[in-house]
Amino acid sequence: MPHFLDIHKTDADALHRMLDQARSMKDARRTFPKAVPDEGKPLDGRMIALIFEKPSTRTRVSFDVGVRQLGGQSMVLSGADMQLGHGESIADTARVLSRYVDAIMIRTFEETTLEELAEHATVPVINGLTNRTHPCQIMADLMTYEEHRGPIKGRRVVWAGDGNNVCASFLHAAGQMGFDFTFTGPEVLDPEQVFVDYARSKGSDVRIERDPRVAVEGADLVVTDTWVSMHDSQTARERRHNLLRPFQVDEDLMARAAPDALFMHCLPAHREEEVTSTVMDGPQSVIFDEAENRLHAQKAVLRYCLGV
Ligand code: CP
Ligand code: NVA
Repeated sequence: MPHFLDIHKTDADALHRMLDQARSMKDARRTFPKAVPDEGKPLDGRMIALIFEKPSTRTRVSFDVGVRQLGGQSMVLSGADMQLGHGESIADTARVLSRYVDAIMIRTFEETTLEELAEHATVPVINGLTNRTHPCQIMADLMTYEEHRGPIKGRRVVWAGDGNNVCASFLHAAGQMGFDFTFTGPEVLDPEQVFVDYARSKGSDVRIERDPRVAVEGADLVVTDTWVSMHDSQTARERRHNLLRPFQVDEDLMARAAPDALFMHCLPAHREEEVTSTVMDGPQSVIFDEAENRLHAQKAVLRYCLGV
């Protein structure tokens, strides 16, 4: 019963198999209306709980639709409406939910909540984002890069902006998939050293470059994310904006990357803040393929966790 807690906690071969399966599931249902289940209904008879302690559009809808396409059933639960949000322990919640459902996806704040849930659940637990990581997003990003440009191994990904949870999962993926990674952003918002060390320990060439124009030279993929994440204090907003403004991804910056470089953003985006509309809607942007691939990649994650 494997959980899917983080990219670096999942075997690299399993990650590759999930990406292959996601691609073939996407191809197989190209002409299907969205509510028609996949052939074989691999999740037939399975019930999946989707718990959200933070807002979500993509994760919520793509998991819900994905479970249904696999022939299973899902229930979307708001953490605030559960006893979990009113003092019931995570361990007891895990034990109880395991009696009702076949897998649990959770979007939460602290990584310890996810870990405790996984420790006490007797069904697989999937990380739908924590303050520190966002592995489902990175599965979709890997899938998207590879469907446009082939294997990501040996390529250079440049992250511009805040060294946040999505950046951390990218560093995990750099280690697991064998690509190089440059972070460009203000020093106070560097990714945690433990993520950098992990990628380096697996052979990834990780660079920290304060000048965004130097950082993107030759990049195969340029990625950014919001300057203020859901767990960041709103009082830090102005300070973050001031610190991060030099790292905005605009057309001039993209022009310095490799000519066939792609642009990604996990969304939701703040247009004209971390990225300009000219880049978001420009020819190098694959942001909506990226959003679509959440669906296909997570279906593969569900099948991996449930062994079907
Ligand atoms: N990218 C992402 O996880 O989006 P949501 O917050 O809408 O789920
Ligand atoms: N870094 C963002 C990602 C949202 C999908 C956040 O945590 O709010």
